[in-house]
Amino acid sequence: MSTDGVIDLTALGHDFVRDPYPVYADLRSRGPVHRVRMPEGMTAWLVVGYEEGRAVLADPRFSKAWSSASPDSGARQISAGTTMLMSDAPVHTRLRKLVTREFTPRRVDRLAPRVTEMTGALLDAMLKEPGRSADLVDALSFPLPIGVICELLGVPGLDREEFRHWSGAALSATNPEERAAAAQAMRAYLTRLVADKRERPGEDLMSALIHTADEEGDRLSPDELLGMAWLLLIAGHETTVNLISNGVLALLTNPDQLAALRADFDGLIDNAVEEMLRYDGPVETPTYRFTVDPVDIGGTVVPGGGELVLVALADANRDPARYADPNRFDVRRDTRGHVAFGHGIHFCLGAPLARLEARVAIRALLERCPDLALDAHPAALTWRTGLLIRGPEALPVKW
Ligand code: HEM
Repeated sequence: MSTDGVIDLTALGHDFVRDPYPVYADLRSRGPVHRVRMPEGMTAWLVVGYEEGRAVLADPRFSKAWSSASPDSGARQISAGTTMLMSDAPVHTRLRKLVTREFTPRRVDRLAPRVTEMTGALLDAMLKEPGRSADLVDALSFPLPIGVICELLGVPGLDREEFRHWSGAALSATNPEERAAAAQAMRAYLTRLVADKRERPGEDLMSALIHTADEEGDRLSPDELLGMAWLLLIAGHETTVNLISNGVLALLTNPDQLAALRADFDGLIDNAVEEMLRYDGPVETPTYRFTVDPVDIGGTVVPGGGELVLVALADANRDPARYADPNRFDVRRDTRGHVAFGHGIHFCLGAPLARLEARVAIRALLERCPDLALDAHPAALTWRTGLLIRGPEALPVKW
């Protein structure tokens, strides 16, 4: 599977997309750093294992700014505006501080009753299906997080299907033209959205971000607002969806764990969601890091000058050196230290919201469907392509 020492992940075919874990584990047994050709076509340095992966996530010697990327890397920036996710300190520090002022735990707590209400309405609609079966992605995993993020940002009128298409195309391993076109359409849409908010502000996060200023009077520029809208909407679209889907799939394929959770929702739901994040989290490898100077990672020197570095979060969370019997889904295990939300200065800003949504949605689904079951063979599911996001395209369930 290797030419010139580069492992072509695409050549591993559908089996790798469906279940990448054995491939990562095999690489880990040979060392922490490997040159890979990504499904997106670029060559990158893939870091596997818990210790090295976690260290890279928090290592300031890796840059996240696109200006650090080598022009030959083939990586193309698709986001709109300037985002904290693709910035280093001090730009990152500044952007994160401005959004943290507004995206507070209080704002998330205030959303809790709405998350419950929205979940209830989605399940009401799903349970009316005469055939007592549905695609859970369409019925719950997708509409809940996007509904919540739209409410938080104050964009109730978002054309969700169109946005879902753009966002999916922009992040998947589709051809570069299609990705660029989707990103362009989304950029135009978000520019209009920010302009509308400026004219008609409300109580929402987007309006607050337009007007917020810190003690020194610092504010987000129009380009940064665009970047923030992009980042929050994409994060709201593409991640929690797969926490709900992958989590429900793990439960339905591990009946003993499902039974344990059903027997003690109050005691176990929080930890069960952490285990879902560890066992099969939505982010397989997070957004690119770039080298500046040469860096030694676990004995391999990665050249400087903007080489792409990817951390396999999926593998870090299944490293037996960190988690005993890591391929076992166990809702009672000690999951502390998992890196499903990243680590270091870029640690996920939306983690409390994602956790809230998953706890509410999965509990309500199981309570209202005491006999919920998969309506497809797990091996027959189609998975999202690309290395960034992991989750099934559809999850057929019956009750
Ligand atoms: C289960 C759901 C989610 C997962 C697994 C997840 C995962 C992650 C990861 C791994 C990172 C770090 C990426 C890196 O270091 O390259 C990240 C960053 C981020 N996430 Fe999430 N995320 C989730 C949900 C959300 C939600 C719902 C929001 C917003 C409402 C959000 C907003 C962000 C933001 C703004 C950042 C960038 C933080 C920074 O650069 O300082 N995420 N997320």
